[in-house]
Amino acid sequence: MAIRDILDRDFILFGGKGGVGKTTFAAATAFALLPRKTLVVSTDPAHSLGDCLGHQIGDEIIKIDQAENLYALEISAEKTLERFKMDYRRQMRRLLETAAGIEHLTVSEREKLLSLPVPGADEVMGLKRLMDVMDEGNFDKYIVDTAPTGHALRLLSMPDTFDEWIDVFYNLREKHRFHERAFSKPDRADEFLTALKTSTARLRNLLRAEKSEFVVVAAAERLVIEETKELVHELLGFGIPVRHLIVNKLFPDLDADFARARRDQEQKLLQVIRNTFSHLEITEVGLQPTEPSGIENLRRFAGVLYK
Ligand SMILES: Nc1ncnc2c1ncn2[C@@H]1O[C@H](COP(=O)(O)OP(=O)(O)O)[C@@H](O)[C@H]1O
Ligand SMILES: [Mg+2]
Repeated sequence: MAIRDILDRDFILFGGKGGVGKTTFAAATAFALLPRKTLVVSTDPAHSLGDCLGHQIGDEIIKIDQAENLYALEISAEKTLERFKMDYRRQMRRLLETAAGIEHLTVSEREKLLSLPVPGADEVMGLKRLMDVMDEGNFDKYIVDTAPTGHALRLLSMPDTFDEWIDVFYNLREKHRFHERAFSKPDRADEFLTALKTSTARLRNLLRAEKSEFVVVAAAERLVIEETKELVHELLGFGIPVRHLIVNKLFPDLDADFARARRDQEQKLLQVIRNTFSHLEITEVGLQPTEPSGIENLRRFAGVLYK
């Protein structure tokens, strides 16, 4: 199964430690997929996709000039959280007001409850945004440049944390209804909870689906290998298949002592990588003389990767 095969998938994510090349591969892969209509999305709060593409990108989908059918989006966690607060504060208030036991709280206590940070609300909203964009179905291919390991894992475990939080609300509301012998019909507040629950669960299902591929990117460095092990382990734990590992920035074979020393060290680490990830298809990519950024360089780099 060559790395080229991932181009057949419709939803391709790149994950790994910071600095290994996630953004670069996400962007280069987009070029490899053209002219199919492609959207490349960054969910890393420290966006560098715009920088990599050499194009201004923001929280709305934008077409990349000089690249037919390429679109990009940097999902802003802050903005989505703001939106979340605005859209749903009313819903939240209603949820609280119709929760059992709420009458024992003072007004200021209720306000405090309302302004409590919802666990991972910004991430969940970021995911919801991604799911909404995908639901609109305007693109053939979706590529995600994910946040560095820790953040991405937090995001993936979010459905559980979030479900717990939602269940607490559900239970409180059920009790309230029982006491009030009130309406048993679901209302807007229920719809809100259900929508959140389904979009987080749907993302996980999508990640496990045939049309998705989570590609792990690494480098031949000790610390990177450690972090990569953890990432692969956790992804598999979530039932997300990992098939491909890209080892990036390998030093060129030059006739110089410095280069030989680097290569020797790398070859040893590469052997460790091959042993550790023997179940994965490993693709080695060399360090390029110049940073693969900007349209021309990315096209060329896509050629190196998917030759
Ligand atoms: N094979 C490569 N050769 C040379 N520079 C590279 C290579 N891959 C990535 N880079 C550079 O390394 C830096 C980090 O890459 P980036 O894709 O931003 O990593 P990440 O998104 O994983 O943090 C960028 O400046 C990028 O241009
Ligand atoms: Mg990046």
